[in-house]
Amino acid sequence: MDTYAAVCGRRTIRKFTDRPIPRELIGRILNAARLSPSGINRQALRFYAVVSKPLLDKIFPHTRYGGYLPDGSCSPTPAEAPTAIVLILCDRSIAPSDDVAAGAAAQSMMLTAYSEGVGSCWMGAIDREEILRICSLENENLSLHTLISLGYPAMESRAVPIEQSGDVKYYFGKDGVLQVPKRSLEDVTKIL
Ligand SMILES: Cc1cc2nc3c(=O)[nH]c(=O)nc-3n(C[C@H](O)[C@H](O)[C@H](O)COP(=O)(O)O)c2cc1C
Repeated sequence: MDTYAAVCGRRTIRKFTDRPIPRELIGRILNAARLSPSGINRQALRFYAVVSKPLLDKIFPHTRYGGYLPDGSCSPTPAEAPTAIVLILCDRSIAPSDDVAAGAAAQSMMLTAYSEGVGSCWMGAIDREEILRICSLENENLSLHTLISLGYPAMESRAVPIEQSGDVKYYFGKDGVLQVPKRSLEDVTKIL
């Protein structure tokens, strides 16, 4: 897939089928994170994939999806939960955190996934302490930055022009596709 098409076409997916992601693709997603840019090439981040169903089941209640739709319509049921997640961790012996590098790595992973038909949701609304404990990582001198939920899509989502009201909240259209309002090119960019 063309890089620009991947960047523009990727949308957050929050409901997944139970089709497993091939191990080889998980490896490529992790490698894309490993090779992402980091300030002064510090490489403080670690990327741990969780594919074990019992672990995923334990982590799931500690993640919160689709906060703009409190009726739960944009949240996966347990049957629609991700089939893999990647924990974005920071090695505290190198740096306490690295938001910028985490962003670059997250996008690399989501685009690699998308180019192979795998959906993703970058997750910040997570119970970090609980997830580290579930994964037996609480004593590893690692902080949990965010995580990426992954799986084959069981929903559709598209970018739509933002309404005049400027409301950025996503919503479901009549066709059942999630509509994600995006500000216009004119509003957010300039060529000087
Ligand atoms: C740092 C960050 C944290 C996010 N955390 C969550 C989250 O906890 N739960 C969730 O459902 N979506 C989360 N998202 C996804 C955003 O809601 C999503 O990117 C946004 O609505 C735009 O949709 P799009 O990714 O399809 O363009 C997060 C996105 C980012 C960048």
